Amino acid sequence: MAKGYLQRKASWEILLKVSSGIYSDNALEKVLKNYEFNSLDIAFITELSFGCIRYRKFLDLWIDHISKIAHQKQPPKLRWLLHVGLYQLLKMDKIPFSAAISSTVEVANRTDLKGLAGTVNAILRNTVRNIAKENLPKISSNEIERLSCLESLPLWLVNEIVNWAGIKETKHIVKAFNKKPSIDLRVNSLKTDLNKFIKELNECNIDASPINQLNNGVALNSNPRSVKNLPGYKDGMWVVQDRSSQWVAPLLNPMKGEKILDACAAPGIKTTHLAALSYDNAEILAVDRSEKRLKILQSNLERLNIKSVKTFKADATNLIDINPNFISYFDKILIDAPCSGIGTFARNPDIRWSLSKDKINQLIILQERLLEYLTPLLKKNGTLVYSTCTICPEENNLLIERFLTKKKELKLDFERQILPRFDKPGDGFYAAKISYK
Ligand SMILES: C[S@@+](CC[C@H](N)C(=O)[O-])C[C@H]1O[C@@H](n2cnc3c(N)ncnc32)[C@H](O)[C@@H]1O
Repeated sequence: MAKGYLQRKASWEILLKVSSGIYSDNALEKVLKNYEFNSLDIAFITELSFGCIRYRKFLDLWIDHISKIAHQKQPPKLRWLLHVGLYQLLKMDKIPFSAAISSTVEVANRTDLKGLAGTVNAILRNTVRNIAKENLPKISSNEIERLSCLESLPLWLVNEIVNWAGIKETKHIVKAFNKKPSIDLRVNSLKTDLNKFIKELNECNIDASPINQLNNGVALNSNPRSVKNLPGYKDGMWVVQDRSSQWVAPLLNPMKGEKILDACAAPGIKTTHLAALSYDNAEILAVDRSEKRLKILQSNLERLNIKSVKTFKADATNLIDINPNFISYFDKILIDAPCSGIGTFARNPDIRWSLSKDKINQLIILQERLLEYLTPLLKKNGTLVYSTCTICPEENNLLIERFLTKKKELKLDFERQILPRFDKPGDGFYAAKISYK
């Protein structure tokens, strides 16, 4: 058996699952359950499979360059296996070509692609010859098309980003979509404090440090083999939360005794932050329309031992109909809206392929409805924060601008858009803080 065959097989199975519509992180989890890999193997499989998903367009370009049959016409199982092989040859420095090829061909040989093992071998070997001769796929000289091919993004999306941010900024943004995402934690301040926790991590030889300007943010400076095995997980000492998302809940300045609505709450990362900031002494209502996601929220509350949150399954746009007493009831409201998630492309490699302009337009309608139907629930001296993990202005500042033009009684107190950067950790994020005039 070629060394590393099982790793390539698992990576290929992850691609098969993602192509059937499963999110990459779920696909990874499902596939890994069937094997007994050690943590180094898992890191390798994650890098390989997520890399293949990110670079799908770029790898297809190579299939079209090398094979007589264009990528769209390849049997899908073969296409994804070729991606596993090509990604190793084109994007992973440390793997000898021979190991990459033999282990990938072995996957074909030992599965129902047996009859195509020769094709896999020929295409991968031919790729190596072409790399050596610098015979690379032809890529358009048009700057936007080039970015779309080299950074592997749908052309419509690169065009959109150029419209939003200009070509210079777009180059930074699209590069950031392909970086290895960092993992940040937020310390549960109800249970421990930042310095104590970092000391504990360092004592276990885990390289971690505080994040600038965040009271409870911890940067893991090298990716752990398994996050859940870090000290303090079962005891609820921390949650995984990207640094960009950690400044959203503090914008509400949640206080003891306040009535707080978290309208799109699951899986509760920001709910638990609101609870911690209000010393587990506010009255927090965590609403979400997804029962499955609310269950995860509930288990987060239990793990972190948070008592001040009640969960409620509902469409948040119907809350007034469900309970008319909610009118002008809440001191603080968080709408962490469902969004296109473009700011999280680095950690969610598949969404770039399922997103469309039409989906974004549907989301904008929902985001507007959430704002429209939830502002009446805010007390006259209350604060509402609207946030997303996208960089699309129509879901962010332009949406808020339009909303505030209609609602003359409201004003914008603060707004911030974080753009993802290749050279800096952190997702893209947006938040606006709104109150009555
Ligand atoms: C961005 S996620 C929220 C993340 C969450 N705030 C956190 O920090 O863990 C958006 C959530 O909105 C929920 N959602 C979408 N439409 C909704 C609606 N009409 N009413 C309530 N929840 C909704 C989704 O189920 C999803 O859980």
